[in-house]
Amino acid sequence: WPASAERVDGALNMGGVPVTDIAAQHGTPFLLVDETVARDRARRIREAFEAAFGSTGVDVYYAGKALLTADVARWMRAEGLRIDVCTGGELATALRAGVEPAAIGFHGNNKSELEIEAGVTAGIGTFIIDSPLEAERISAAASRAGRVQRVRLRISVGVHASTHEFLATSHEDQKFGIPLAEAAAVARRIRELPGLELVGLHTHIGSQIFDATGFAESARRMLALHAELGGTEPLPELNLGGGFGIAYTAADSPEPIETIASRLADAVRGAADELGIAVPRIAIEPGRWIVGPAGITVYTVGTVKPVRLGAGTRTYVSVDGGMGDNARPALYGAQYSARIASRASDAAPMLARVAGRHCESGDIVVDAEWLPADVAPGDLLAVAATGAYCHSLASNYNAAPRPPVLAVRGGEVRTLVRRESIDDLLARDAGLDTGLDPGL
Ligand code: LLP
Repeated sequence: WPASAERVDGALNMGGVPVTDIAAQHGTPFLLVDETVARDRARRIREAFEAAFGSTGVDVYYAGKALLTADVARWMRAEGLRIDVCTGGELATALRAGVEPAAIGFHGNNKSELEIEAGVTAGIGTFIIDSPLEAERISAAASRAGRVQRVRLRISVGVHASTHEFLATSHEDQKFGIPLAEAAAVARRIRELPGLELVGLHTHIGSQIFDATGFAESARRMLALHAELGGTEPLPELNLGGGFGIAYTAADSPEPIETIASRLADAVRGAADELGIAVPRIAIEPGRWIVGPAGITVYTVGTVKPVRLGAGTRTYVSVDGGMGDNARPALYGAQYSARIASRASDAAPMLARVAGRHCESGDIVVDAEWLPADVAPGDLLAVAATGAYCHSLASNYNAAPRPPVLAVRGGEVRTLVRRESIDDLLARDAGLDTGLDPGL
């Protein structure tokens, strides 16, 4: 739960505002982001890595895929972060929010010609090249625009990390990046191509990673390649990607970010020493770690239904949202923690399953949660740590309009993204252009 979430007179408050007031004004469901928490975390991760790497320096790119709105982009810039985008849509959001193009890095394994053109002509800081073909395309676009485009080369480093463990292999069967063995040839080609300046290598080993071991292994492998390619022309930078994990439930205990930063810095310095090279400027790309814990989703309970199972019962508590606003349980079996947000209760705890309203049995919000046995229709239910990859993965499944993204700061609530309406949805249905009355 965000540090600023506390109970006042039984109701959950966030950033000093009762969620009951927000629900009364905006309806439910909504995603509520505490601006102070998101910005504090952005600053904290930047300072942790700056302290760990010291004078050789660090660039922190906020991975916009976690949650990108104009205001979120501005908060990150104000806290000294750059912005990582991976589509023309994210690029446009950042640019229109006023992010300086030079502070933007552009990812993606299949950027379209239009996206490349848009990035080059806007003058973005770097493209992360994912394939030899893409190097040719970016070179051509840069030449047409009469520019030199700074680029990084994404490497598939053979290290995959998941929450608790990492796996190191020499070959990878996945879509991102260039295998280690082929990297030198592709880097050589990039250096020959007109309009491109290779500034460094990039890798990203996974997401929701709890400790530094996998990052350190990837850093060692990447530094060896960095040294090999450096030769007469040392590369100034090395980007080690994002993936720093957060606690979704009490069972999760990620290493503190300061510990991860210092273990990673030790690995980088140790490897650089062994290779006899200078420590490059390091870049990281955290998304989830910054915004995940800053958000909660608030729903209204609609039905409470006990289902008899052999000797026991399971109580399904259904809310007015679900996989449309949080696909993560259905996609990844993700776990969350939920509380009644509108009142305190002395009732005994009951093991409940919080379900969404979509027509799919896998539409579960929280698989197993202790809720007070008197949970009832009309109660507000809050789910913690929904700031990352919930709004950005939201869908209109079952023609459900997507909830708004609200931000709280200093007792004030502001809309970052307004609630979608059924009219928004129907506006795209070309069959309705005939003037057919949808009858709603
Ligand atoms: N950099 C690159 C190149 C990435 O692909 C990603 C995430 C990040 C940075 C940021 O990773 P983070 O720090 O947020 O873990 N939808 C999934 C997560 C997908 C992550 C994709 N790439 C989920 O909801 O768990």
